[in-house]
Amino acid sequence: MTGPPVLEVRRLTKLFDQVVAARDIDVSIATEEIVSIIGANGAGKTTFVNLVTGYAHPSAGSIRFRGQELVGLRPRDITRLGVCRSFQVPQVFSTMSVLDNLLIAYGLADSGRRAGLHPLASRDRVAACEGLLRVYRIEAYRDRPAAVVPQGVRKLLDIAMATAREATLLFLDEPTSGIATEEKFAVMDIVMAALAQRKATVVFIEHDIDIVERYGTRVVAFHEGRILADGPAAGVLGDSRVREHVTGRRRA
Ligand SMILES: Nc1ncnc2c1ncn2[C@@H]1O[C@H](COP(=O)(O)OP(=O)(O)OP(=O)(O)O)[C@@H](O)[C@H]1O
Ligand SMILES: [Mg+2]
Repeated sequence: MTGPPVLEVRRLTKLFDQVVAARDIDVSIATEEIVSIIGANGAGKTTFVNLVTGYAHPSAGSIRFRGQELVGLRPRDITRLGVCRSFQVPQVFSTMSVLDNLLIAYGLADSGRRAGLHPLASRDRVAACEGLLRVYRIEAYRDRPAAVVPQGVRKLLDIAMATAREATLLFLDEPTSGIATEEKFAVMDIVMAALAQRKATVVFIEHDIDIVERYGTRVVAFHEGRILADGPAAGVLGDSRVREHVTGRRRA
């Protein structure tokens, strides 16, 4: 860690019936760190993000964001504090245009509650959304329904929607999943450049080890709900247990 912790997770545990999806997770993340989470399918990566962002409730443990306890808060309250996320499967309104999706994200961010499916299109908001479309390089798709744009554009839109509100701490759940290998670096370059401008702390879940090595300075490896290894990328990726349980069983 390089600065004061923005996130401090202690003894975080989540049980789903017989499955222990998170087991005594201890992790601290410093301001402006770029952290990559790796782990085999079912290791508990999404569960960890769901717990921190309020989409799942822990069985035990504590999650502090800048000293404030997040356990018990609703997702929208956590978002309002500046802890934002994107989803493994983009959560976009497929029949609506790319711009309207962003307008809705702005509406949610401004009011803190679902404003209905009709975006509130004030001129300022449209201008702000067009700015985001440029930052994420998807302005060419402005008026296309989200259902028909390429998967890379949909992923970028989902991430842009997650950052419509000023995010201090941003979780990206598999930002490059479903994107062709040759497009992954371009998508990550756009995302990381956009987030660097905002000085956000970024935690991203990723299966592609080439992406992890390029963008994640710190790597946290999950296995069966536990943290198997946590540290600089080279050390974690070289760890024999990580090779056995994570990178050796990479998803096809
Ligand atoms: N809502 C739920 N109800 C029951 N079990 C769940 C639920 N969500 C997750 N699990 C279980 O918890 C474990 C961790 O799942 P999780 O989705 O966090 O894995 P993951 O590391 O994100 O995997 P993937 O790489 O496939 O996305 C799995 O065994 C999963 O089946
Ligand atoms: Mg997942």
